[in-house]
Amino acid sequence: MKSNFPINSFSKIETPFYYYDISLLRKTLDSLKEELAGHDNYHVHYAVKANANRRLLNIINEYGFGADCVSGGEIEAALGAGFTPDTIVFAGVGKSDKEINLALSAGISCFNVESIPELENIDRLAKEQKKVATVALRINPNIDAHTHSYITTGLSENKFGIDMSLIDKVLDKLSELKNVKFTGLHFHIGSQITDMDAFRSLAVRINDIQEVFYRRMIVVDSINVGGGLGVDYHNPDENPVPDFHEYIETFKKYLVLRPKQHLHFELGRSIICQCGSLISRVLYVKEGVNKKFAILDAGMTDLVRPALYQAYHKIENLTSSAPVEEYDVVGPICESSDCFGKAIELNAAERGDIFALRSAGAYGEIMASRYNCRELPKAYFSDAL
Ligand code: LLP
Repeated sequence: MKSNFPINSFSKIETPFYYYDISLLRKTLDSLKEELAGHDNYHVHYAVKANANRRLLNIINEYGFGADCVSGGEIEAALGAGFTPDTIVFAGVGKSDKEINLALSAGISCFNVESIPELENIDRLAKEQKKVATVALRINPNIDAHTHSYITTGLSENKFGIDMSLIDKVLDKLSELKNVKFTGLHFHIGSQITDMDAFRSLAVRINDIQEVFYRRMIVVDSINVGGGLGVDYHNPDENPVPDFHEYIETFKKYLVLRPKQHLHFELGRSIICQCGSLISRVLYVKEGVNKKFAILDAGMTDLVRPALYQAYHKIENLTSSAPVEEYDVVGPICESSDCFGKAIELNAAERGDIFALRSAGAYGEIMASRYNCRELPKAYFSDAL
């Protein structure tokens, strides 16, 4: 069965481009919102790094979610799309002075801090602005998320977070500094996590870590468990909306919140991934010695995930129902890694056919580059074609 795409409209548009199914995005946001109902102390901050397209940010903001930003540019994008500063958290292992000043001026809700030198720098800059910055400490929980090594972040050898063995030093430093105020703890163990055991381990570990703070009589107002919920790249039509219920329940069940504590989530991929596809035309079908290549007008500059992480994206030929053949689906960039998939079974392709690379809403458009002096891909929306 062919997926449901407005192929007549596509045929009039120059490729490659990103296509976003707005009704699926809304369905996804509805589903997440439903899971949070009745939990006034649960807060979702959309991870802007997954996709900062203005139209999509506007819609996510409509649902009352906050924003998780990792650069000054993302803070500006979130503010520009209507997110209020008090819903914005700012993370990142290397925040520059310019970015910290921007965040302080905007009055964002919290800096997720990853080291003592960063803490000292935020304190210094906050003092200059005669402000007190609210900070959470990003703790490295040393949990293996069993995902791709480039997107696992919670292990001790990663550059992220503060190791618990150093926590006393950090707390001593915090008590000396006058222009930073401690509010809570932040964690993030990795991305594209589909096994809830990893989140359960995180929750249990946070319970232990909280004890350390309570023994030192330090009040922890907020726990931020980061993001990372994965999606079904292999079956985007069967599983268009991630299982937010299972995810939220895991924390509800295993994480022991103290009275008045707030629980924060930073979800990116799970919100925005399935509603986006990269649409491309076949430029040439090339016969190799033992294989056929479908050469697309989209390349790794438009969607880098397969080249960078060996990531799988389901590929469909939207304009053919001819018998299935096997293709290596490649782009036009002068790099062998510019390959979207090898030995992919597709309805027989010819020049001009339109292909969809599915589940490309997250870390797709936002990671596009101008390598080879190519144009950045444009975006189209299902409700405005
Ligand atoms: N919070 C923090 C601190 C993060 O580092 C990330 C993602 C998130 C939240 C959102 O994670 P999500 O819910 O989207 O899994 N470019 C890679 C993914 C990099 C993720 C980086 N951090 C990819 O294409 O798979």
